[in-house]
Amino acid sequence: MDIQRGTELQLTIDDAVFSSTGGSTLGGEGMSVARSNGFVFFVTGAVPGDIVTARVFKVKKNYAEAKVVRVERPSPLRVQPRCKHFGPCGGCQWQHVEYQAQLRFKQQRVVDAFQRIGGFTSLDILPIIGSREPYFYRNKMEFSFSNKQWRALMPDKERVPEPEGSVFLGLHVPQRFDKVLEIEECHLQSETSNRILNATREFVRMKKIPVYDSLREIGYLRFLVIRQSIRTGELMVNLVTYDDRPDFMREYVGAMRREIPEITTIVNTVNSRKAQIASGDVEKVYFGEGVIHERIGEFVFTISASSFFQTNTAQAEQLYDSARAMAGLQHSDVVYDLYCGTGSIAIFISDAVKKIVGFESSESAVRDARRNAAANNVDNCDFVLGDLKEVITKGKAGLDSRGRPDVVITDPPRSGMHEKVVEELVALAAPRIVYVSCNPATQARDVNLLCREKYELKRLQPVDMFPHTYHVDNVALLQAG
Ligand SMILES: C[S@@+](CC[C@H](N)C(=O)[O-])C[C@H]1O[C@@H](n2cnc3c(N)ncnc32)[C@H](O)[C@@H]1O
Repeated sequence: MDIQRGTELQLTIDDAVFSSTGGSTLGGEGMSVARSNGFVFFVTGAVPGDIVTARVFKVKKNYAEAKVVRVERPSPLRVQPRCKHFGPCGGCQWQHVEYQAQLRFKQQRVVDAFQRIGGFTSLDILPIIGSREPYFYRNKMEFSFSNKQWRALMPDKERVPEPEGSVFLGLHVPQRFDKVLEIEECHLQSETSNRILNATREFVRMKKIPVYDSLREIGYLRFLVIRQSIRTGELMVNLVTYDDRPDFMREYVGAMRREIPEITTIVNTVNSRKAQIASGDVEKVYFGEGVIHERIGEFVFTISASSFFQTNTAQAEQLYDSARAMAGLQHSDVVYDLYCGTGSIAIFISDAVKKIVGFESSESAVRDARRNAAANNVDNCDFVLGDLKEVITKGKAGLDSRGRPDVVITDPPRSGMHEKVVEELVALAAPRIVYVSCNPATQARDVNLLCREKYELKRLQPVDMFPHTYHVDNVALLQAG
């Protein structure tokens, strides 16, 4: 059979896609795999065990990408997605897969990364820690305003330009940064969050407030960020705008407070730069304290509009518990917490060790980390600002200038650790390294490098921080040989 763009064919879905490297993916994460006609097909919208009719939309030399047109025989793993936006939204990829099966795929994804990328043949891997609450788990959602709407079911030729002054509020569909899919309900944050989303849309439409247009650099509305503490219930609304319009903000605050009395603080972040990001130069507090508080373990963290904080509070606690248990901490230990963010891991383990030194490149995160430590009466944490690959280069004030660590905990971004950092970790020779990661592919790559030189991989513990997505976090324990 000649496989071309537009070809429709029947496929039996074998498995989920596990392998991916760094940011780039082969066939795409969250897709499923089928084999037919000497081709590998990466299929969107399918579940392992399905028989589907799929339409090919991309053809390469020996693989193709296809989208489900019809499910001919559903897999026993299929469930009814809860959300009406599932599919076009793309925020969740696996809401149509029963949760226990999602967990099995995630566990396999970690195994696959460590075998294929890390080159490890035997692994001691604990069962993945699933989420007790697979819905409504996020403490932060960021919605975008746009004057262009993504209409999933509308053929290209029927699309006409939106009328001037249109306001849409929702989520960007994958690869469409100019358009948003209007969202009325999201099952990852609370019901109150959905009410804020819909009330905001209605209010700005009624007042005819313009969306910021990045091409023409005019307009006002950019993002709506909702942060809700899972443990204290405090609720922040942050409207991110292009310029400062205090009269409108006062009206908006009045309307929101009347309609949703659960809101505890309202902030206006003004971002007058072209970059489409939900942070800015000015944060004006219109109501409440301008911050919310969240609890992890015994510790309370203050979260401002611009603070980084793990988005799944309950599972962050599980992740940190795993890291803490794996580290086998002693009261005499000096611990380095690399890529420490706002210091949440450092503070979480502070009562178990003598001293912790956190390293972090974001100035505001370091400021928050110091503030969080002080607010929790933690006085054995020290935070160092700087890019790790600069801070730790030999010959400069190297890592060991702060006292040789007994344990290193590292939690880098998705891209993993810079090679120089890996080299310096080998030279530093801490007896134990606990590597926390949100990307098993780059983690397996870095662990392979560490184990070539000095370390032995002892154990892995996957944790599901993001149910219904393909993402999986993983904690690895390494011991110096
Ligand atoms: C995955 S987050 C870890 C956050 C923290 N451990 C937590 O659980 O909240 C990664 C952190 O690494 C920081 N980072 C990224 N590149 C860095 C670099 N080159 N040097 C130091 N820190 C960096 C980011 O600012 C971010 O706070």
